[in-house]
Amino acid sequence: MQITVTTRDGEIHPVEARTGLSLMQNIRNAGVDELEAICGGSLSCATCHVYVDSLPPGAELTPRSADEADLLEACDDLAENSRLSCQLVFDPALDGMRVTIAPEY
Ligand code: FES
Repeated sequence: MQITVTTRDGEIHPVEARTGLSLMQNIRNAGVDELEAICGGSLSCATCHVYVDSLPPGAELTPRSADEADLLEACDDLAENSRLSCQLVFDPALDGMRVTIAPEY
């Protein structure tokens, strides 16, 4: 399964994704360390901010939790498709999704 990640300089990285890991973990495991994820996924840093560019047909993301929404509100570059990648657990329905790493927090 795969996620396509676009980094800030427009480079495209195909990332092998494992079910049950967060999007953040999958991206970092692939060596894309531009996604800093300083807090390690404990929902306190917002340095794992991504834009979800597209999902496979029929796939849906779990809605933002109140805490995720609060943290995203503090980001200058918040967009409608903003998510904290540590809060999205990868599953097979998301195979083929595309994300872009948001500007530095
Ligand atoms: S890794 Fe810190 S909020 Fe996601």
